[in-house]
Amino acid sequence: MKICKAENLFYLVNDQVALIMEEKEGRLFLRHFGGPIASYHHANAMHEMDHAFSPNPRSEDRTFSMDTQRQVLGQVGRGDFRKPSIRINHTNNQVTDFRYVDYQVLDGVPQVVGLPSPHAKEGQAQTLKLQLKDTVLDLYLNLYYTLYEGSATLTCFQEVVNQTGETIELATCLSAMLDLPAGAYDVISFQGAYGREKRFQRQALKQGYFEIGSSRGASGHGQTPAIILADRLTQDDAGQAYALQIMYSGNFQAFAQCNQLEEVRLGIGIHPDLLHWRLASGESFSSPVALMTYTFQGLNALSQASQTFILDHIMPPAYSQQLRPILINNWEATYFDFNFDKLTQIVDKAQEVGIELFVLDDGWFGDRQDDQRALGDWVVNESKLGGPLSRLIDYVHDRGMKFGLWIEPEMISQESDLYRQHPDWVIQVPGRSHTYARSQLVLDYANPEVVAYFKELFGDLLSRYAIDYIKWDMNRNITDVGNGTSLSDTLMQPHRHLLGVYDLMAYLTQTFPHVLFESCAGGGGRNDLGVMRYFPQVWVSDNTDAIERLAIQHGHTYLYPTIAMGAHVSAVPNHQMNRTTPLKTRGDVAMTGNLGYELDLCQLSNEELGQVAQQVAFYKTIRPIIQRGQRTRLLDPEHFPNDWACQFSYQDQLIVFYGRVLSTLEKSELTLKLKNLDPHAFYQEQSSGKIYSGAELIYAGLTMVVPRGDFQTSLQHFKKIQ
Ligand code: DGJ
Repeated sequence: MKICKAENLFYLVNDQVALIMEEKEGRLFLRHFGGPIASYHHANAMHEMDHAFSPNPRSEDRTFSMDTQRQVLGQVGRGDFRKPSIRINHTNNQVTDFRYVDYQVLDGVPQVVGLPSPHAKEGQAQTLKLQLKDTVLDLYLNLYYTLYEGSATLTCFQEVVNQTGETIELATCLSAMLDLPAGAYDVISFQGAYGREKRFQRQALKQGYFEIGSSRGASGHGQTPAIILADRLTQDDAGQAYALQIMYSGNFQAFAQCNQLEEVRLGIGIHPDLLHWRLASGESFSSPVALMTYTFQGLNALSQASQTFILDHIMPPAYSQQLRPILINNWEATYFDFNFDKLTQIVDKAQEVGIELFVLDDGWFGDRQDDQRALGDWVVNESKLGGPLSRLIDYVHDRGMKFGLWIEPEMISQESDLYRQHPDWVIQVPGRSHTYARSQLVLDYANPEVVAYFKELFGDLLSRYAIDYIKWDMNRNITDVGNGTSLSDTLMQPHRHLLGVYDLMAYLTQTFPHVLFESCAGGGGRNDLGVMRYFPQVWVSDNTDAIERLAIQHGHTYLYPTIAMGAHVSAVPNHQMNRTTPLKTRGDVAMTGNLGYELDLCQLSNEELGQVAQQVAFYKTIRPIIQRGQRTRLLDPEHFPNDWACQFSYQDQLIVFYGRVLSTLEKSELTLKLKNLDPHAFYQEQSSGKIYSGAELIYAGLTMVVPRGDFQTSLQHFKKIQ
């Protein structure tokens, strides 16, 4: 791994990836981002020519234009007509001309104050800091690029320092920008809706823009802050691809712009339409951190590079390899309708079948009889629980299980004591009526008083009770932004609000490191890398239907690790889809994530309970393979919409999952070629005892056989025997 400057070239290169930039008269150009190159000699130089209508900095040289160069940053007003990476309202215009001044190589990963940043062990990461200054104004721009030992992912962010003596306004400050050579590209994104999160979407990129984003004040169910650019021929096992991701949970934009020369600019950052950051002289602003990943070995390799990076450098280190408990959550079992007896009956059954954690969901506090009231009143409802919370916690602990609790810290109900005491704590426009969602309002975490109040309140809750696990929910998006003392103050509120939320997340996770935090936002409404820096687990969707989950879990694990993904077996007919699937299918699908249960175990027959006990026992034997293993997709849903398959390899063990949605007739069963096996070894399938050579599993493949009928799955466990 090295970062160096050779002549006017900056290299960041390890054994996976290289970023090479050139400085020319203070301008910075991107010469290469891709496979590792330790010695670069302009083999891919742009052929400079006079492009009509592409402006030139020098009248005598019509072959050089900022409009056509592959740049490190995109600026406004000097001839680059593409989307900018930096746009500043200052004096009477937006024009900047930042030029290189100096550089530094720093050890480790710089931490962005107030925002989630990656981490690395000593000696694992190095950072290049490029210092630029505007040619006219006392305005400075620092670009940070961090390279990690053995990783195909680099991280970066930019920092603006205002020394102009005047207040300026940042209108665009992206986290990453990449200018890439012309090619035939596809763009991949993850779209959807509530209950339909992270749907893989691949489409051709043509001249123009492809753009995704969120203006919801959260990353949202519908969009994931990530964009992948792949060569049109790239598939799971071959071809090159680039991914940009951002560690941010608020309004964002990601785009791919194909310009008139068919060159591509990729960008990701805080949504420029919603960034109006006032920067007084003497102040600085840092963008959130972005991840840039490259592979030439196909989309499975891209996924694995991203997952490994998240485990090594984003997820709280104590949790990235820590096996997750099998849980039972009472939400779909009882909703708000529970009491001590009902809960303890579920706990008893859960203990019988070997479940390890009981999670008490919404409804345990204040007057929370339904979802129209009491958010904010975080006082245990002892009459509903028939006694103190500690009695229930002890009951669970006495049965050898852990105890988890649901909270929703960012929200407030109008029908609550907290609202009656602090109506001003709500995000709102004074004088206008509220806009509601799920009958609730959003607390203004841009207000330090609010942050301090909840630090104390939840700090006290976690100190007072022996809580092992927290499910942190967030059930609406932000509207009516208007708490500022002036327009410019209000325009800064969305980012400030998020800084306040991150402050609380950082405080609670650092103060109570033994507590496993799960993030949730009505399922996957904020399943992003900003939150994953604090919370190592995500409830990826409220949709617990096994068939819908196939696509959702496929989308989650495209870039994020399996160990972060909660997956529950629920009742049939399924509460969201009204679909009935076999218990085996529900178990198999949930076992390709962190297995949990979310149904009233007391309603199951003895036979079903026996099946659940078997699932739990089986999962305990394969848990390390699923949660720590390498996940590889075996089928591409674009070409196989009725079939899903993936494998997990860990040490000398392998799990192969296969699911067929609808029954088919007169169609051969699929034979899938397994991956990453030792061709010279033998593998034994554990339930049948059958032995196969690695070579035949790789080159001849394994035929997937499931019972006739709809919604069938299989989960096979292999051990290497030689
Ligand atoms: C939405 C979550 O996604 C559900 O799992 C559940 O916790 C409810 N909120 C509770 O209100």
